[in-house]
Amino acid sequence: MRIEIINGPNLNLLGKREPGVYGSRSFDDYLTELRAAYPDVAIGYFQSNCEGALIDRIHEVGFECDGIVLNAGAYTHTSVALHDALRAVPAPAVEVHISNVHTREEFRHNSLISAACKGVICGFGLDSYRLAVEALLKEKREEEKR
Ligand code: DQA
Repeated sequence: MRIEIINGPNLNLLGKREPGVYGSRSFDDYLTELRAAYPDVAIGYFQSNCEGALIDRIHEVGFECDGIVLNAGAYTHTSVALHDALRAVPAPAVEVHISNVHTREEFRHNSLISAACKGVICGFGLDSYRLAVEALLKEKREEEKR
């Protein structure tokens, strides 16, 4: 089982960026714990502040991995191109947000990528990523039963 976590713009600053909203833990630190919790799953990781680089990564991994966990950051609310990239590849994607975007500014309430994803998890802090991994594992198990 191979899952790719893709983080978009400004998420390289997790731990330093608005800790009241996103917490004070770095993603690298969290990722070490997440990988240790799933020793049988190869969890890849990619982060970029550039829309095109995120699209390229989806193209690269989307034909090979079993699922994508995507926190597209602000591109969530703007990017038709990311929506199209997710639709272009067979791997199922879960849209993730650390904060509950629906309790925040109105411009965060709309996602252009949700419709290209299997589901959406938001508002559980960094644990949103683990919940997304769990959802993809369950999907995979159910697919194998079919
Ligand atoms: C975010 C929410 C987005 O609205 C914001 O632009 C981010 C992070 C989250 O994880 O809560 O960069 O995706």
